[in-house]
Amino acid sequence: MKFYIDTADIEEIRQANRRGWVDGVTTNPSLVAKTGRRHHEVIKDICREVDGLVSAEVVSTESETMFKEGLELAKLADNVVVKVPMIEEGLITVKKLTAERIKTNVTLVFSPIQALMAAKAGATIVSPFVGRVDDTGANGMNLVSQIIQIYQNYDLNTQVLVASIRHPIHVLESALVGAHIATMPFNVMKSLTNHPLTDKGLAQFLKDAQKVPQ
Ligand code: G3P
Repeated sequence: MKFYIDTADIEEIRQANRRGWVDGVTTNPSLVAKTGRRHHEVIKDICREVDGLVSAEVVSTESETMFKEGLELAKLADNVVVKVPMIEEGLITVKKLTAERIKTNVTLVFSPIQALMAAKAGATIVSPFVGRVDDTGANGMNLVSQIIQIYQNYDLNTQVLVASIRHPIHVLESALVGAHIATMPFNVMKSLTNHPLTDKGLAQFLKDAQKVPQ
């Protein structure tokens, strides 16, 4: 499973990249707004920093304008994926961008059938939001496994990117159901390496090592 970092913060990306954890990056308008910088500048900087795919989201809702925005975003770097919301106009845009050989990520997916429609339009990636589904009292991971099942049933090659990941269990379950990609904030990524028994074991080894001449 690929790990993407879900942030527009270049420092976080550098820190995660230095540890070898970054296969790609996802951004959204809310994450870019937190940087206080211009959208295209942020995306260009991120694309220079990583080898993998970088999702950059359009902010219009009408297909003609979304398509133009997508073309502009795709020009910023070779590794840009144009992120488009899961609305009818978005799917028209996905079909047009796909015809131009531009990669797309259909975002804000909350039902398996939405994911099927995104794949039929030609989406490269589909992004179900597990944490936000959990917030409603439903089970976000059921959504992910149903999407994977449907894609397998029909040999659809759209990749499933689990988004809105909030904790390590979401990452574990994503890997168990065979998601292609999990995108997560840096703090979740960091928590994946930790285990109290590792810390306890290391403390004991270091203590015992002091008894042995080096
Ligand atoms: O990739 C989508 C993600 O950023 C949404 O996460 O925590 O705002 O639901 P969250």
